[in-house]
Amino acid sequence: MEKRDELYAGKAKSVFTTDDPDKLVIVFRDDTSAFDGKKKQALDRKGAVNNQFNAAIMEKLQAAGVPTHFEKLLSNNECLVKRLEMIPVECVVRNVAAGSIVRRLGVEEGKELNPPTFEMFLKSDALGDPMINEYHVRSFGWATDQQIETMKALTFKVNDVLKKLFLDGNMLLVDYKLEFGLFHGEVVLGDEFSPDGCRLWDKDTREKMDKDRFRQDLGNVIEAYEEVGHRLGMTFQY
Ligand code: C5P
Repeated sequence: MEKRDELYAGKAKSVFTTDDPDKLVIVFRDDTSAFDGKKKQALDRKGAVNNQFNAAIMEKLQAAGVPTHFEKLLSNNECLVKRLEMIPVECVVRNVAAGSIVRRLGVEEGKELNPPTFEMFLKSDALGDPMINEYHVRSFGWATDQQIETMKALTFKVNDVLKKLFLDGNMLLVDYKLEFGLFHGEVVLGDEFSPDGCRLWDKDTREKMDKDRFRQDLGNVIEAYEEVGHRLGMTFQY
């Protein structure tokens, strides 16, 4: 497999084509961003930690029957994935109220949501990722009825697998965002799963162990990501 041209550079990852038209290389950079790119900083070790963390989680999800784009690790900060046609919708499950739902609905941070709630957002930095509903997704042709149902079912299946995994490490999976794409017509989990795209709290102290440490200037951002990994039995190469 040969890495070729840069296809695009996102806020934290860059994507390259390969000699196989069905495969891409993702490079996890140290760049960290929040608030639609308004706050930016390079954090030492972040690319390597997120790449290796994501690989371990994607493998767990794949083994549990969630189809993912992940193929294999290529280096400390690169992996090989299937090339998907991305659906421009972010799927969010919330087990506990935090972040935007607290501001939007005036609910208390930390309130357990039973059953967990599901939301969708249009992936658009220019518009600040507005919240959308299933009718928008259908009417604008971003996904079909069946694709929406599959994304929703897979997003909840990820919750079943990961809530338990993090709980075993004494952590609460508060919420997370997933992105899906199509691979030869099949809905497949894309993007990444790392502490950049979810909220994780220590179960006893409720200490934040995710990107909120960066958003809220709490410090020790990457140390917290590493601690999450270590609690799940991961080791990181730099
Ligand atoms: O900001 P909000 O509370 O809606 O985020 C819900 C979850 O989705 C959080 O875990 C957040 O880190 C993640 N998210 C993300 N990328 C976005 C928006 C939200 O990873 N563009």
